[in-house]
Amino acid sequence: MKIVIGSDHAGYELKTKILTYLNTLNVEVSDLGTNSLTSCDYNDFAVEVATAVSQGKADRGILICGTGIGMSIQANKVSGVRAALVHDLFSAKATRLHNNSNVLTMGGRIIGEDLAKEIVHVWLHTEFSNEERHQRRVNKLEK
Ligand code: RB5
Repeated sequence: MKIVIGSDHAGYELKTKILTYLNTLNVEVSDLGTNSLTSCDYNDFAVEVATAVSQGKADRGILICGTGIGMSIQANKVSGVRAALVHDLFSAKATRLHNNSNVLTMGGRIIGEDLAKEIVHVWLHTEFSNEERHQRRVNKLEK
């Protein structure tokens, strides 16, 4: 699986920890920035990551800002992207099963490293349910 990851300054520290975790898994990871704590706009990294997923250059994307909210709003404006803001394990599983989300967003100012790593693990390892009602709803999202 190919994963692209990005953050703004507020998500940078959590992103470095998630990157270290991803490198222990059997996945290919590409970090699209930011690369420091210097203030920047979450929009730019959300568009980079979301576009890579939209164009099929990556299977999944992970975006981290202060709250995860700006990243999710921006990423969802890219066609074909279903970004989910997740801060709990139930949602991590449900958004894969029900929404087939292809981008995960989290808030570095909201959750700690251990929970974030568990969320990433569950989100990466849960397959879309493929039940007709969920597929029908995802199809409506795409329209
Ligand atoms: C940056 O201060 C903060 O606004 C940003 O990281 C994010 O939380 C926006 O939604």
